[in-house]
Amino acid sequence: MVINILYFTSTGNTLWLVQQARKIIEEKGHTVNLFESVTTGLEFIENCDMIGIFYPVWGSDLPDPVKDQVRRMQEGRGRKIFLIGDCAVFTGDTGVYWKKVLERKGYDVFYVDHLTMPININIPGWNLWKVPDKDKQDKIFAEAESYLKEICSSVLEGKRKIDGTSPFSRLFGVLQRVLLAPFTNYAKKFFMCDSEKCTRCGLCYRICPKNNITIDEDKGAIFGKDCIICMKCYNFCPVNAVLVDKGSRDDKRYRRYKGPGRGIHPIEYRK
Ligand SMILES: Cc1cc2nc3c(=O)[nH]c(=O)nc-3n(C[C@H](O)[C@H](O)[C@H](O)COP(=O)(O)O)c2cc1C
Repeated sequence: MVINILYFTSTGNTLWLVQQARKIIEEKGHTVNLFESVTTGLEFIENCDMIGIFYPVWGSDLPDPVKDQVRRMQEGRGRKIFLIGDCAVFTGDTGVYWKKVLERKGYDVFYVDHLTMPININIPGWNLWKVPDKDKQDKIFAEAESYLKEICSSVLEGKRKIDGTSPFSRLFGVLQRVLLAPFTNYAKKFFMCDSEKCTRCGLCYRICPKNNITIDEDKGAIFGKDCIICMKCYNFCPVNAVLVDKGSRDDKRYRRYKGPGRGIHPIEYRK
């Protein structure tokens, strides 16, 4: 069987998951092709027996690049799709919502599930969750790996499962989806650069999925209007010069999530 997987990743959790999934599935004799959503078109739909979409959950919704892609997908003609979200705490009804969108296009969305991964948002004003320490992260990855094996087996066996249908998931899912856009518009205004710390290395410019950052010799990183608050620049800045509000200068309190490690590096979209 050939499985094409579309994915988006900001801080590497989803990239680690798709690489693990590829390993698990290929060990069972199948072929997996990975397609990164910012740099790929719609070619992931063709030449396969099954499509997987892996995404980090953003406020019970898909990240913008994946949303754009799903909206552009043409007629499904009964093609099989599975949706796997990864979140820190709560996935809501993300998969259920996008299952309906895909079913209206004629896809057979047979499997929807989610895994828990480390949180990648730790900013002033959003004190609900903290980036876990290394031991806790290792535990989360071990549990995710074991659950991912179950997911891969179920998908290969063609089992049906739809996660996120409870009234609680539906209600809070809808609420989160409604609030995410205003929250994004509000939060993106707080991105700034500590120009004294900034080394002008340009990493934030290279990894921004929206090409929203320019580097100014005097001011350091300058942020445009297209931020989708993916938090890549904030988390991966080598000297933590990217701030979300001045309060985040306290980087012990607002610990950045530096990604899963394990050979995973932030995707660089440009040179
Ligand atoms: C904009 C944004 C919104 C998020 N919303 C949620 C959420 O609603 N629920 C949750 O549990 N985690 C949420 N997260 C956390 C991520 O889904 C989680 O850390 C994920 O594993 C990150 O994957 P990545 O490293 O591949 O980007 C959010 C992260 C970001 C950047």
